[in-house]
Amino acid sequence: MKPLLQLEQVDAFYGAAHILHGLTLQVNAGESVALIGRNGVGKTTVVNTILGLASLRGGQIHIGGELIAKPRTYMAAQRGVAVVPQGRCIVANLSVEENLLLGAAVGRKGPWSVPEIYKLFPILQERAHTPGTALSGGQQQMLAVGRALMANPHLILLDEPTEGLAPVIVDQLGVIFNQVAAQGTALLLIEQNMTLVTRVAQRYVAMAKGAVVAEGIVHDESLDELHQHVMV
Ligand SMILES: Nc1ncnc2c1ncn2[C@@H]1O[C@H](COP(=O)(O)OP(=O)(O)OP(=O)(O)O)[C@@H](O)[C@H]1O
Ligand SMILES: [Mg+2]
Repeated sequence: MKPLLQLEQVDAFYGAAHILHGLTLQVNAGESVALIGRNGVGKTTVVNTILGLASLRGGQIHIGGELIAKPRTYMAAQRGVAVVPQGRCIVANLSVEENLLLGAAVGRKGPWSVPEIYKLFPILQERAHTPGTALSGGQQQMLAVGRALMANPHLILLDEPTEGLAPVIVDQLGVIFNQVAAQGTALLLIEQNMTLVTRVAQRYVAMAKGAVVAEGIVHDESLDELHQHVMV
């Protein structure tokens, strides 16, 4: 089977600033992969390059085996790669339910619908008609995950989904991510919380200075090894 997402020797820029240097990364169907690294190494730029928000000037990106020569924001979602962006990006003047429906705009068929999202996150149903940004940080993150699922993706890119959240909420999200993965959606989890990484990911890819510096299998004893790549 073709990888869901494949970056090969990718060079990416913001203007003249060269951020990704020959970055190679692959996510296969059924996998949960963690992308880790200190602040500023280029993790979000990986997502931005796939979305066409950073400029791809070397290497290749394939989504589901299809070459994406000139990435544009809408292309990934159309091809089954949804994004939960860093900072969540809940739309302020839309209700919870309207934010969810935005995720379905791409029009992909699949198992996820508003009622299914409400089964996964009952709190979102309780708050369906409140403004999305009136929710707590943890609830907004659930909404961002729900919105991504509404696109019925094969793969979700989660960019630091637990940033700034209380440990108890982080634990809840970890359970949710595993449920989503168990239902057949692959995950690329960008994360600074290595305990969560060991709970969710089977494999990790570590970045420094815009390139991959280590990768391996995540197992029970991986915590020390993982921490080396995120310690300041
Ligand atoms: N729009 C932009 N224009 C120019 N440089 C940028 C832009 N966005 C990010 N950068 C720079 O690109 C580098 C990589 O940033 P990026 O946001 O990808 O890092 P990150 O690994 O996601 O960090 P964090 O863990 O803090 O989210 C940093 O040096 C950052 O200052
Ligand atoms: Mg980032």
